[in-house]
Amino acid sequence: MYPLLFRVVLSRLDPETAHHAAMSVIRLLGTPPLSWIARALTRPRPQMRTRVLGRDFDSPFGVAAGFDKNVTGVRGLYALGFGHVEVGTITAIPQDGNPRPRLFRLIPDRAVINRMGFNNRGADAAARRLTRLRRRGPRPVIGVNIGKSRVVDVADATADYVYSAHLLAPLADYLVVNVSSPNTPGLRGLQEVETLEPLLVAVRDAAGTTPLLVKIAPDLPDPQIEAVARLAVRLGLAGLIATNTTIAREDLHTAPSVVAAAGDGGLSGAPLKARALHVLRIVRACVPDSFCVISAGGVETPADMQERRDAGADLVQGYTAFLYRGPLWARQLNRRRPVS
Ligand code: FNR
Repeated sequence: MYPLLFRVVLSRLDPETAHHAAMSVIRLLGTPPLSWIARALTRPRPQMRTRVLGRDFDSPFGVAAGFDKNVTGVRGLYALGFGHVEVGTITAIPQDGNPRPRLFRLIPDRAVINRMGFNNRGADAAARRLTRLRRRGPRPVIGVNIGKSRVVDVADATADYVYSAHLLAPLADYLVVNVSSPNTPGLRGLQEVETLEPLLVAVRDAAGTTPLLVKIAPDLPDPQIEAVARLAVRLGLAGLIATNTTIAREDLHTAPSVVAAAGDGGLSGAPLKARALHVLRIVRACVPDSFCVISAGGVETPADMQERRDAGADLVQGYTAFLYRGPLWARQLNRRRPVS
């Protein structure tokens, strides 16, 4: 049913318009009695329950950052079976992001390229929504992903992150420092260990008792991935998310002219699968068992999720395959056993 809907209707809509339409349906699904009905149909198998970061997750599978930037779809995503929702990226200062079009489908690759540029309503608005969300009603584990405001100079990034951390950490089940989006100029430079250390120390101190994680790019050379993972352990962070989108464009099946027309941005989905798995293995090999590793990048099927779990991921996230597989995607991952 969904593949037909995708082929005939959704794939003809501008991708961002399709996303907004999907968000409207998801918001509706988050309200009773629809939320109760949906949840009854998608509830993860009891064996999926897992305790990580001091929190109970109904399922290790969650929605990666970028899908719900303004904390509007959390209950609806829970109704669809996701065990956690990572909202954001949220910046201290509200911003519109890059001009449209800024989201492109590469259908033959089951991938997308985006250069959204952290469009979001800002930390104060997010804090109000999170406060309301936590007050009552069923909800998944909520991660809050924070990034640098575009108008703030990279040299002043720490104060900008700390503002968001102070405000949002008390409202988050876990907090993520995003230094790996390719769509904010200079951001990925913050992954250099010398620059990253003071930033992480300041955000860690602002986050208080809320578990803090750092999210990294798949394009870092392997030794730098190890260095960042070791730094995160040394500074007492709770974990690391690997990975964000890639700036690589290798081995794609989509026509080169289509890829070139999309332009700059981060590539996500199936082409990221092998690299994300490799990065997960590198990270897992150099951190203690108690350190939480979340794997994202190209996860599509129950077998993909199992592979990540076998490689040591405590939690698994996805975004792009949601566009291609539709609303029952989390249910498939939560209920179907992988075929070996
Ligand atoms: C993202 N991603 C992302 N990540 C992040 O930390 N902050 C963000 O704001 C966004 N925004 C965003 C927008 C869009 C349209 C996409 C497709 C992705 C990256 C996302 O969280 C994830 O790390 C990657 O997409 C890899 O996972 P998938 O999509 O291959 O499952």
